Amino acid sequence: MTTLAILTAAGSGTRLGRDLPKALVELDGFPLVLHAARRLAASGVVDSLVVTAPDGLTDVMTDLLANDPHVQVPVQVTDGGPTRQASVGAGLALARSGDDVVLVHDAARPLVPADLVRRVVGAVRSGHGAVVPGLPVTDTVKQVRPDGDAELVTGTPDRARLRAVQTPQGFARDLLVRAHRTGAARARAEHLAATDDAGLVEVLGEPVHIVPGDAAAFKITTERDLWLASLVLQESNA
Ligand code: CTP
Ligand code: MG
Repeated sequence: MTTLAILTAAGSGTRLGRDLPKALVELDGFPLVLHAARRLAASGVVDSLVVTAPDGLTDVMTDLLANDPHVQVPVQVTDGGPTRQASVGAGLALARSGDDVVLVHDAARPLVPADLVRRVVGAVRSGHGAVVPGLPVTDTVKQVRPDGDAELVTGTPDRARLRAVQTPQGFARDLLVRAHRTGAARARAEHLAATDDAGLVEVLGEPVHIVPGDAAAFKITTERDLWLASLVLQESNA
């Protein structure tokens, strides 16, 4: 009965536009992937980590994570895939037989609070097969379709019933394996959008539960996000 965290770090960081993969870009002197790994380990509810590395950088990632005194859980590093979904699949293949709970977390969310990690694992351990942190949406969201050189609004979903979801997402291991096999195949065949792991569980028709997210777990996509993250860290160190 152990919890494995898959830390996805194999992306290239195109939108950040640096000359190295996003997970290796530094924040306050340490790569994003190291911040995320330290916080997962500090939660006390993660027993081991599998990190997906960008092409050719498995050794760099291993040196970085295996020698860090703050990452006090066993770490395996594996090659990621061409898509995030493929990277999660590669990580999942390394789960050990006792890993009954699997978390999937993005290195692009380096400031994830340990409390949030505990909240997600706690909800899975209490019997929910798929658990996702979510925050209320503050912007009004429009549904659109292409219309000539512009877009036409086709609807406005009720904002009160929308949640912006984050990682870590937590799963009963067997359910996540099924989602990545059957759910992913069905999503492809039926052209269903499944942009996160919970989406693949939804394709199976299985329930996904939301626990309160945390603004600190925001995703770093652009330079502005990185700047924001450094301000947040300065504030919390002050
Ligand atoms: N990721 C991954 N394998 C991929 C693509 C993405 O492991 N083939 C990981 C990223 O490293 C990141 C997380 O999935 O931690 C979320 O992806 P995203 O924020 O889109 O990161 P990138 O794909 O690196 O960025 P971009 O889309 O701007 O290139
Ligand atoms: Mg991406």
